[in-house]
Amino acid sequence: MAVLRTTLDMIRSSGLLILALLNLRFNGSQSLADLQWLPCQFVDEKVQVNEEGHLETQYIHREAVIQFGYDGDSPLHPAITFLITASKVDMRRYFEGGEDSLNCEIRRHNSGGIFMRWPALGAQEHDVWFTCTLRHSKSTITTFLRHTPSAPVGGKPDSLKRLTVNDKDLLTTSAGMVILTRTPSVEVGFLKEPTLDCQFAVDHKQANVTVEWRLQRHGERSKLFSYSSRTGKSEGTGVSIKAIGAGNASFKLPPTRKPSEGTYICSVLIPPLYGTHDIPVSLTEQPRVSLNVGSTYSLTLGEDKKVVCDAEGYYPLDVNMEWLREPVGGSPTPVFLKNVLYSSHRVHQDGTYSLSAFFLLQPGLEDSGYKYTCRVSHKSLLTPIRKSFILSVTEPDSTLWYITVFVIIIVMLGILFWLLPQFITGSKRCKEEVLRAHA
Ligand SMILES: *[C@@H]1O[C@H](CO)[C@@H](O)[C@H](O)[C@H]1NC(C)=O
Repeated sequence: MAVLRTTLDMIRSSGLLILALLNLRFNGSQSLADLQWLPCQFVDEKVQVNEEGHLETQYIHREAVIQFGYDGDSPLHPAITFLITASKVDMRRYFEGGEDSLNCEIRRHNSGGIFMRWPALGAQEHDVWFTCTLRHSKSTITTFLRHTPSAPVGGKPDSLKRLTVNDKDLLTTSAGMVILTRTPSVEVGFLKEPTLDCQFAVDHKQANVTVEWRLQRHGERSKLFSYSSRTGKSEGTGVSIKAIGAGNASFKLPPTRKPSEGTYICSVLIPPLYGTHDIPVSLTEQPRVSLNVGSTYSLTLGEDKKVVCDAEGYYPLDVNMEWLREPVGGSPTPVFLKNVLYSSHRVHQDGTYSLSAFFLLQPGLEDSGYKYTCRVSHKSLLTPIRKSFILSVTEPDSTLWYITVFVIIIVMLGILFWLLPQFITGSKRCKEEVLRAHA
């Protein structure tokens, strides 16, 4: 039942998304800059005290809409509406690229124990925060939305108290801060120096910003860089401090090696808000594939040949190599060779790998004209690499056999022509002797 409801919710919200995007289309815009509303999943929390007396949070998915406009606007859709009023921070400005798989999610944000008034005009001590995250293949944008409830909700972040949000409620909010990345995940080769994108914007000037980059790999965290605008102190390298002033906290990696892999975490702290983006970085290198025979290969019936396919310099380790035999021109299903052997993986100094797949070719005459293909699949390749040769098989020594026969005939003819005159004269003499004897 729950599954069915979620599915129905998904269908409904994707329907809404299409509606919203159609609305955008009719406005004749290619970016989201003129977007008026967007369906969004509100991941609400229900905090309860469980049987053991501990606080337990349950997450509930609710249908919601973000609507861009002004204080006092009425909702465009009958759902929980987060009305985002104009401020210096506008998430629509950062959105670029296609409309594929745009995902919007709103969550409650608690300030993790920091209690202070947001240092912008109009902010109240008892403001409540939400985060709105737009995810897309090319970017992740998190906006912090500040809502001033009519009466203080009170309580600490971990307490049971939450601002009650009813279905069809309209919450007027103002965007206080946005943090985004245009490199939500990075795949890169060895010895490259990619830039991990991380940008932010705040709704007021002279904000107290702390920027940090950390790397998490194999469960261990290490600090790569930190900067605080309050003290003006920085640690580590990779980020331009001048750029931070303009909201650009992008981090440039030193030349990539195997230990560069991991999750890079960009964090921006503007008390009481703390925004982070996790950027997984993985290394990939494509294999170079080669055969030890040319594009055609001839063998004599009875001979054999060790045919080797080499895949070199790839990363990561997982690779799939197979040999198949197919008629030239393709069609009938190719047959995978069964007698294929593999070398063990070789590791190169730069961290890349190599592997060979080989087999002993002992063809029959019926194999002549077939195509033998080595097929290599790897994470770095969209389609497998194929290297082939066409086999031709000849009958053993057939020319030599013809030459031998030819030579024998010549020799026999020679003998014949040499012997014939002798034989004739011999037989004449013989006849004369016979005649003389009779006489
Ligand atoms: C941010 O700064 C980096 C250099 O640190 C630069 O490569 C990048 O283009 C900048 N991004 C923007 C949006 O200005």
